Amino acid sequence: MIVLGVESSCDETAAALVRETGEVLADVVSSQVKLHAPYGGVVPELAARAHVQNIVPVLEGAFAQAGLSLADVDAIAVTNGPGLVGALLVGVQAGKAIALARNLPLIGVNHLIGHLLSGQIVRPGAAHVQTEYPFIALLVSGGHTALYEVRSPTDMAQLGQTRDDAAGEAFDKVAKLLGLGYPGGPRVDRLAAQGDASKVKLPRPLRRPGSLEFSFSGLKTAVAQLVHAHGPYESEQEIADLCAAFQGVVVESLVEKSLEACRVRSIPRLVITGGVAANKGLRAYAKLRSDAAGVALTVPPMQSCTDNAAMIAYAGVCKLQAGIRDGLDLDVFSRSPILGATESTKRYRSQRLPRP
Ligand code: KG4
Ligand code: ZN
Repeated sequence: MIVLGVESSCDETAAALVRETGEVLADVVSSQVKLHAPYGGVVPELAARAHVQNIVPVLEGAFAQAGLSLADVDAIAVTNGPGLVGALLVGVQAGKAIALARNLPLIGVNHLIGHLLSGQIVRPGAAHVQTEYPFIALLVSGGHTALYEVRSPTDMAQLGQTRDDAAGEAFDKVAKLLGLGYPGGPRVDRLAAQGDASKVKLPRPLRRPGSLEFSFSGLKTAVAQLVHAHGPYESEQEIADLCAAFQGVVVESLVEKSLEACRVRSIPRLVITGGVAANKGLRAYAKLRSDAAGVALTVPPMQSCTDNAAMIAYAGVCKLQAGIRDGLDLDVFSRSPILGATESTKRYRSQRLPRP
């Protein structure tokens, strides 16, 4: 069985072809990061318009990469939420059109479930073993920060989420405060490696034992207050020290709560996914602490962690195998009705756009 996956929930237009084993035959992603960078965040209308332009080339690219055609496809899986409605509509309509034209089953996929299963994708040449169920998953991106218990590919529950900002959003806001540009996560990560975290004192959020909730807005405010009190930074070392301190607090919170979830649920397997899983400090600290706790850690390859359609296709495979499919009346939703997580809308800037 080969499933075509389509993803357009935020600022990536993506298409992928995946076998029922999770083997990726093609995976094409067109990112809009450069388009949104001057605005310091994703602009919904620009995102939707770019998806309209990119969707067909991305689909064609996926078939060319796999050396396959629509005749080889057995089903279409498309992200139908949560996300930006205008953006989601583009992928959903493309999926419906193909399903109608080829008389193929159509499956709507919750974007978050795609992320949670992203560690089960098998990429060509990668010596990757799928994680045994059940496992604990930390989904940490620009829009989401939450912990889940994944019992099977179609049975999962949220254990806790952020009360305010997503971790990636906090990275981006702190980078902006320090004048480091957008998206800020990778830049803060790079500077943090040269910094001394002990030089800056920052509050450690929600440290109560047993709490599986996160909070990053107080930390972000503490950084803002420090920056305003300090005035312009003259030395890069001072900025690096602040980045190291901020990243240290975020990473500690993410990892300790993930391991707390493993302990509370007696599940010694942890998967960390989402864009922030690229963070070098997070990867290193998670490995160190999971080894010490006897927890098997999986951090999927970066192409699987960030938004992609291979994870959507694979989630579609799992739904199809469980006998679940949708009709051509498939709807879109901006908040997750399944996992309780809400899409953070704060990071999407609402503003007047220049006239085209
Ligand atoms: O999953 P993703 O590509 O998009 C969604 O948010 O859906 O995640 C993007 C987020 C951004 O906030 C970005 O700053 C953050 O992931 N990020 C990082 C790093 N690379 C990307 N955050 C910290 N360290 C990194 N190396
Ligand atoms: Zn995502």
